[in-house]
Amino acid sequence: MYLISSQEMLKKAQREKYAVPAFNIHNLETIQVVVDTAKKMESPVILAATPSTYQYAGTPYLINICKTAAQMLRFPFALHLDHHENISDIKEKIEAGIRSIMIDASHHPYEENIEIVKKMVEFSHQYNASVEAELGRLGGQEDDLIVEDKESAFTDPDAAKAYVERTGIDSLAVAIGSAHGLYKGEPKLDFERLAKIRNKVDIPLVLHGASGIPEVMVKKSISLGICKVNVATELKIAFSDALKLDFNHHPDANDPRHYMQPAKLAMAKIVEEKIRICGSAGKL
Ligand code: 13P
Repeated sequence: MYLISSQEMLKKAQREKYAVPAFNIHNLETIQVVVDTAKKMESPVILAATPSTYQYAGTPYLINICKTAAQMLRFPFALHLDHHENISDIKEKIEAGIRSIMIDASHHPYEENIEIVKKMVEFSHQYNASVEAELGRLGGQEDDLIVEDKESAFTDPDAAKAYVERTGIDSLAVAIGSAHGLYKGEPKLDFERLAKIRNKVDIPLVLHGASGIPEVMVKKSISLGICKVNVATELKIAFSDALKLDFNHHPDANDPRHYMQPAKLAMAKIVEEKIRICGSAGKL
């Protein structure tokens, strides 16, 4: 069993008006939690990893753990490149077997963004790898990617239409007020803008920074065209809080097979909850 692209699962989600959750993973345990939970709920799923995660875990380890999981469970899913910027790095990872990528050129001026993404699309499509790109710029922090509020920018609907046509991307990450990491107050999403983008653009739309966005808002985003919902921070918090609590209760614990269990269970609860919110259970 191989790692699949995100293309077909996102198109199905778009047709049937639900979203595929994309969960950021970091190691064997977090991969197991996401894959086992998604399989149990019969939900399509995307496992996402940032450049620093591939560096931390080792790309061949991540790819082969995921391939083994897909094979053992007879469950095809996508291993995705989240917020990758380096072209040769992306090419190497596609050549190594990854079929779902995000090229993030959102920090470049519009025309440069288009040029970079277009070239990446041409390369990726030779391998049937799906390509996501971002127009506008999300604020907040995602691993090493830090975008100050003053550098963030919303997606312009007209620019989005031309961007999609000129780049040939398969899905578009929109900046409508969500941010990576934790929100300071209640998040505010620009639903009017999302509806306008949906009117102009017919490919699947992606919501980044879904941690901390209330359920009703995520559901409303999905009803307005979001087909992929990215979650990282909430998973990390659930996992590490449970781990800390377990060490508090058992200060002498030293067996990872034991102290990892509550962390995995806590993370699985969030994965389950997000699958339910996305409406993707039973959609395999
Ligand atoms: P959060 O960490 O805010 O959930 O964002 C995840 C994300 O958008 C990954 O690209």
